[in-house]
Amino acid sequence: MNTILLSDTPRGLRAAAGLLRQGGTVAFPTETVYGLGADARNDRAVARIYAAKGRPSFNPLIVHVRDLAHAEAITEMSPAARALGAAFWPGPLTLVLPRRAAADLSELTTAGLPSVAIRVPDHDLAQRLLAEFGGPLAAPSANPSGRVSATRPEHVMEGLEGRISAVFDAGPTPVGLESTILAFDGDTPVLLRPGGLPVEAIAAALGRPVDTRAARHITAPGQLSSHYAPRATLRLEAAGPGPDEVWLGFGPLSVLRPGLNLSPRGDLVEAAANLFSHLRAADALAAETGAARIAVAPVPRTGLGLAINDRLERAAAPRPGEFSATL
Ligand code: TXA
Ligand code: MG
Repeated sequence: MNTILLSDTPRGLRAAAGLLRQGGTVAFPTETVYGLGADARNDRAVARIYAAKGRPSFNPLIVHVRDLAHAEAITEMSPAARALGAAFWPGPLTLVLPRRAAADLSELTTAGLPSVAIRVPDHDLAQRLLAEFGGPLAAPSANPSGRVSATRPEHVMEGLEGRISAVFDAGPTPVGLESTILAFDGDTPVLLRPGGLPVEAIAAALGRPVDTRAARHITAPGQLSSHYAPRATLRLEAAGPGPDEVWLGFGPLSVLRPGLNLSPRGDLVEAAANLFSHLRAADALAAETGAARIAVAPVPRTGLGLAINDRLERAAAPRPGEFSATL
């Protein structure tokens, strides 16, 4: 398959919508990361997402819609869910909600679950694409399964060229981390994946605490412990790089060491936006210099730091097929 590079123009949008209607796969930017989109109602189209990513087919996909009204048409929204949608959509929040029986969705999109993960992306091009296409788009992050998410079109091409119909040439994504995923257990909001919307903001909007214990375990089927993995291994909470390590710093003190820095100012928003591209760059530097590991400075666990640490811990986790030193 020849992967087409699409421009952010009316012509590019029409071409993308045409490919999607024919059951093709189109990678597009959202505010979080690039998504690999397909018609969420079309089994064959959704199957092509799983095939392109090499993703286990039991792992359901996020459905992207234009606004709260479209989300209501697909899911049963409780008053709390509706309040969150009204407060944070469009934005980096995914809600896992009961699927409406009448909702027109491929069983492959939801992997046969009675629930749907749904969100409204806050990105101008994503919004125009949803409007032009006119239906819901299933879109996981546009990277091969288990690899670092793509925040630039070059990253999408690097991982998926020849395996997808098209990608928009639309620059870096502003947030840089995937959306926060929230479910409800009865009335209790439960964090499934920390992400681009800080959990503190959700708790404040709901006026009650969010249960964050589950996010440590594999509750979202895709939260395999090793994920977002670069090729080099990672050493976290490092004070500095060892002789065979590449440095990934955070904050002003880290600037003194050679390597990369997630945010010299120590700003978590900037660090989130840089996280995946810096992981890739550190990985390339490790390959170039023959370094075995990437040493990563400590990052505080408040606000977006929770999601940054989650991704770093998954990137550092033992990979499938590797023996952990403790076994
Ligand atoms: O920011 C994002 O969320 C990006 C952009 C493209 O929207 N998408 C993204 O999708 O990160 P993906 O597929 O890489 O991760 C979605 C996660 C997976 O871990 C999946 O298991 C979980 O959402 N998920 C999907 N449907 C679910 C459901 N019904 N119940 C629980 N978890 C679900
Ligand atoms: Mg992903």
